[in-house]
Amino acid sequence: MKTSRRGEIYDVMKVREDFPVLARKVNGHQLVYLDNAATSQKPRQVIAALVDYYERYNANVHRGVHTLSIEATDAYEEARAKVQKFINAPVPESVIWTRNTSESINLVAYAYARKHLKAGDEIVTTVMEHHSDLISWQQICKELGTRLRFIPRTEEGLIDLSTIDEIISARTKLVAVTHMSNVLGTIVPVREIAERAHAVGAVILVDGAQSVPHMPVDVQDLDCDFLAFSGHKMLGPTGIGVLYGKPEILEDMQPFMYGSDMILEVSYEGAKWNQLPYKFEAGTPNIADAIATGAAVDYLENLGMDAVWRHEQQLTAYALRRFAELENYRVVGPTDPSLRGGTISFTHDQVHPHDLGTALDRLGIAIRTGHHCAMPLVKSYGHAAVARASMYIYNHEGEIDHLIEGLKQAEGYFSHAGSRRS
Ligand SMILES: Cc1ncc(COP(=O)(O)O)c(C=O)c1O
Repeated sequence: MKTSRRGEIYDVMKVREDFPVLARKVNGHQLVYLDNAATSQKPRQVIAALVDYYERYNANVHRGVHTLSIEATDAYEEARAKVQKFINAPVPESVIWTRNTSESINLVAYAYARKHLKAGDEIVTTVMEHHSDLISWQQICKELGTRLRFIPRTEEGLIDLSTIDEIISARTKLVAVTHMSNVLGTIVPVREIAERAHAVGAVILVDGAQSVPHMPVDVQDLDCDFLAFSGHKMLGPTGIGVLYGKPEILEDMQPFMYGSDMILEVSYEGAKWNQLPYKFEAGTPNIADAIATGAAVDYLENLGMDAVWRHEQQLTAYALRRFAELENYRVVGPTDPSLRGGTISFTHDQVHPHDLGTALDRLGIAIRTGHHCAMPLVKSYGHAAVARASMYIYNHEGEIDHLIEGLKQAEGYFSHAGSRRS
């Protein structure tokens, strides 16, 4: 593991040089980007991979015999192999390119749940899911007559496993849980939940949108049946995501969409589906963004995911200590840094989160405010909205200091202005 002269796990300042946007000024101030849970910034290496594809070998994949098409196909499949290695998937065929986490989850809902679940069966999720991992299952329940059950949280914002054996029962056919909450930062004990799911013969989908970019994730170690995540939250471009599935389960699923690459043989009467993973990749895929996601994986692997996670844990611990100094701000979620990632939601006793977000933007500090696509969870804390600062590989303690100073300034400003919206 690399350690910089300042005692950091890797040289954060050196890493920052790879991200052109971080040099930007916003409203006259140096940008402090703390909205990484929404989307991460992109290093030059990822941007270069996109430009290189479009400038040198732009062509459609899989169907060509000419040089450009062969090069594009090789790069596209190489990127798949990089993702396979990154999450320790057993074979490249178990890695399917989608548009994002949401589409990956929808794919499982349509192509797995519709085929394998029936009225009376149960789907289990947690109370801290992103809407993408909640609504898909609500809709399946409406359509099939299955029941949706929830693993609760503790007061502190951790997953409460005390009733897991009652919640995940012989009626459970599918379990869908986030690996890290995008609001609370809570790490969900996925391995334990997977064990229980498998003990009753259910499959488990893990929403890795917030974990795969930040910590080592090994699908064989977790023993999850599906893992969904997005390229854009892990230094890659928007418009590309991944669904990992155990090959034998993917084999037994219907296609999600029809056309083009997912077909092997067609007559006027019917068609035979292509082999994995192409069975689930209808139409011309997102070639450039898949290749650039491969470059993002290279970047993260070069830092080392252990180092990425340790950096984030150190920074989270520092940020939580600094938040504890603020009298009128409350962190929403666990305050033990060993149980959470670097997504910190918070509220002020009097000032509305949107006002905080706007005041920080004037100082060049980018955070997110709102329900963060987890409305029921945010409501369960008695809020309609919370403010959220989320970190990544290029953030450092100096930026956390700016955030804390900005929050103090905002408090001063709004107490004078008399902002009392709740
Ligand atoms: C936990 C979680 N799941 C799913 C999603 C949806 O990701 P995407 O918008 O890339 O589909 C997000 C996005 O913020 C998320 O944080």
